[in-house]
Amino acid sequence: MIRRRPVYLDHQATTPLDPRVLEATLPWLTGNFGNASSRQHAFGWAAESAVSAAREEIAEALGAGPGEIVFTSGATESNNLAILGAARAARGRGDHVVTSAVEHRAVLDPCGQLATEGFEVTVLAPDATGRTTVEAVAGALTGRTVLVSLMAANNEVGTLNPVAEIAALCASRGVLFHTDAAQAFGKVPFDVRSGVALASFSAHKIYGPKGVGALYVRARPRVALSPLVFGGGHERGLRPGTLNVPGIVGFAAAVRLASREREAEAARLTALRDRLDQAIRGALDGVTRNGPRVDRLPGNLSLSFAGVDGERLIASLRDVAVSSGSACTTASAEPSHVLRALGVPDALAKATIRFGLGRFTTAAEVDFASAEVVGVVRRLRSEIASLSA
Ligand SMILES: Cc1ncc(COP(=O)(O)O)c(C=O)c1O
Repeated sequence: MIRRRPVYLDHQATTPLDPRVLEATLPWLTGNFGNASSRQHAFGWAAESAVSAAREEIAEALGAGPGEIVFTSGATESNNLAILGAARAARGRGDHVVTSAVEHRAVLDPCGQLATEGFEVTVLAPDATGRTTVEAVAGALTGRTVLVSLMAANNEVGTLNPVAEIAALCASRGVLFHTDAAQAFGKVPFDVRSGVALASFSAHKIYGPKGVGALYVRARPRVALSPLVFGGGHERGLRPGTLNVPGIVGFAAAVRLASREREAEAARLTALRDRLDQAIRGALDGVTRNGPRVDRLPGNLSLSFAGVDGERLIASLRDVAVSSGSACTTASAEPSHVLRALGVPDALAKATIRFGLGRFTTAAEVDFASAEVVGVVRRLRSEIASLSA
């Protein structure tokens, strides 16, 4: 069944709020409006106990302790706090950080900021599928390296990195390892006991509310962080500011659902993704798939279409909501930095569609989307052919 058009296939950009999350959140937006830091009355106590319960639930799902969770406004802030906070706090020990060319801007830009502060930043080139190998990381570490930041799952092409192996290498060399797990958590197995020191999460990627996320900060061995903002001492002084109680309660509800449904949902999405892939590549020549074939995010598919104008391709797909790359780069005419790093030529990178399937995507929607894409690509190609004839 197609519930509405455009059909939403951009779940790497964001996900709709699950109605069950909304239900859990609503009381905290209405009657239960207390400030979780108000210690002197029942409104505050109720809010505080809801935040504590949410913290415990999220920590447990991650294999962490509740004291290791810092609530933030989302993965962008978590990445900034992890990267700037850890590197600045470790400045006495070294001045080198390592990341990769396919990271989200919320990792690359804080690394760029560190460069302006005198840090040396090594940006590793991933392999052709977008994966950064443990050997590549090993080759980049020096005696001055304090931090490695590599994403768990790529938001454009769905590649999974070998997080546990990289974490083990970093631990053996006394280097902190941060992973941006915004896309991985809730979709593929993820547990901080893989040995990461810091990990970033976002609720709106897992059918929770926007504007809330978390940073896992390992307690033992302790990870020192310099805070980015200063204020009332909330979140152990690492992230002061009145807590977003409804957001945090909603985040926990989203985590609960994701933990419960992840395995079955991954199998369902993989099948739907393959159905979309086969329908499009079965009908059209000159389509390349970006990212790895296996070891990838279940609902993600990135396809590049030779012989069509990229901007016209996306603009012509009025009834299918997709993007050419990450939501933050689609506004610019520049091709995606991720596809560039994978060696995709610029013209082809611009003619790339990132499909992101999600919890409410149906087979009918996938069939509708594939028919639309095939129709549009055929039309654009025949226009070009008639122009050059
Ligand atoms: C890999 C990755 N990191 C970070 C972010 C930013 O997350 P948020 O929107 O919660 O700031 C996103 C989403 O855009 C993402 O896909």
